Amino acid sequence: MATGETKSKWLGELPDTASEAGSKIYLAYENKVDEKMILSRAPADIVSLWKSNLNTRDNRLYYGDNAGILAMLMYDLTVKGKVDLIYIDPPFATNSVFKSRSRRDAYEDLQTGTRYIEFMRTRLVMLRELLSEQGSIYVHLDKNMIFHMKIIMDEVFGSANFRAFITRRKSNPKNYTRNTYGNISDYILFYTKSDTYIWNRAYRAWTDDRAKQEYPYVEEGTGRRFKKVPIHAPGERNGDTGKPWRGMNPPTGKHWQYRRSVLDELDARGEIYWSSNGNPRRKVYFDESKGVAVQDIWLDVKDAHNQNIKITGYPTEKPVSLLQRIIAASSDTNSLVLDCFCGSGTTLDVASKNERRWIGIDKSAEAIVTALRRFQKGLEPMGDYVKGRKNNQKTLPFEFQDPQKLLPLAFDKPISDRTDVIEEFSLFATSPYHGELDGAILGLRSKT
Ligand SMILES: C[S@@+](CC[C@H](N)C(=O)[O-])C[C@H]1O[C@@H](n2cnc3c(N)ncnc32)[C@H](O)[C@@H]1O
Repeated sequence: MATGETKSKWLGELPDTASEAGSKIYLAYENKVDEKMILSRAPADIVSLWKSNLNTRDNRLYYGDNAGILAMLMYDLTVKGKVDLIYIDPPFATNSVFKSRSRRDAYEDLQTGTRYIEFMRTRLVMLRELLSEQGSIYVHLDKNMIFHMKIIMDEVFGSANFRAFITRRKSNPKNYTRNTYGNISDYILFYTKSDTYIWNRAYRAWTDDRAKQEYPYVEEGTGRRFKKVPIHAPGERNGDTGKPWRGMNPPTGKHWQYRRSVLDELDARGEIYWSSNGNPRRKVYFDESKGVAVQDIWLDVKDAHNQNIKITGYPTEKPVSLLQRIIAASSDTNSLVLDCFCGSGTTLDVASKNERRWIGIDKSAEAIVTALRRFQKGLEPMGDYVKGRKNNQKTLPFEFQDPQKLLPLAFDKPISDRTDVIEEFSLFATSPYHGELDGAILGLRSKT
């Protein structure tokens, strides 16, 4: 295993020029707009479409292009500098058009190359202004633009605020017909606004096999499972941790991990394991472990992959489990969470159910209608879509019906009967608004 050494130990080669070591890296392309221009963009005019009486948290769903809405939010002092978490899953520059499972137009992803990069950079610059000092941003992309956007994120948020490059397994292995490796991954860039950010480390439960492998010993008398770890760490020290303990010096080039009085206490509690040739090691107990700390490869938050998994049917919808992980790790109760490419509302749904406040934006009417339906009706097993098509039923499943008629139907059960309903929010649109959501709003009005 490769282990880095501290800079002070290693002089290394001097850079070719004095400025080279500290100079920033920028992505150069034509028509790259000055940040000042982005920050002085005209805010969109907003019309209020619907307001729930219950919306004490000020949750907001906006229908419209996010550029003008973000520009407007930069003037809103309840939002500017107050957002603790941003998750975005924008178009990936795939040069395609996406339809929902019911074949309705959902959104286009036709911007590529520098147009795409500038489109994203414009939004990222404004998002930075909205983030709180303890805030984090997660940007979900695929192999097309991830490297360009890493450089742009370094520019906008500062490379020192880069925290992780997460690889997610998005699907099960495919039998590719192309002569290359199957593509089953996408990526998430995680940056923070500063170095004092909200961080609740994520853990996964141990599997039995893995626990036994990792904690192979069982303590006599107590039956507690444990592993043995060294009690020394790299680097020599002159203080207490460099002195002999129990007549033994730390190994060459190392120091004791704890002060000698702490080692005495551990030993007195029976937490030091002495090998037959007198080498001390610390016992780490399985029952004190919180689980396996989540690393930067996420294999367990795949997109819907079997008929029983519940979804909305919106294209490129992300799984609830993915947002649960991100929201739990990088926000606290009552934090404000923002997703300005919110699609079917996965981020908003998970935020609501975890007592976070939220703002969602999307410019697709289909996305907003889907999110509203999700708030009222929840998710449906993926298999139901297939059943609907195969059987050619007269009454089409929910997702195949006319979008204008969807929302009234969603209310056919009294709200009090449902446990997963989200009704704490207001709905807005950018002006001019042409009535695209009127059918859905009718349903919302009838219940307030
Ligand atoms: C990949 S989808 C997001 C899916 C979402 N994460 C989910 O779980 O359903 C991207 C979304 O970005 C929206 N979008 C694209 N350009 C936009 C823009 N300029 N302003 C607002 N929304 C935009 C699209 O309409 C689409 O719904």
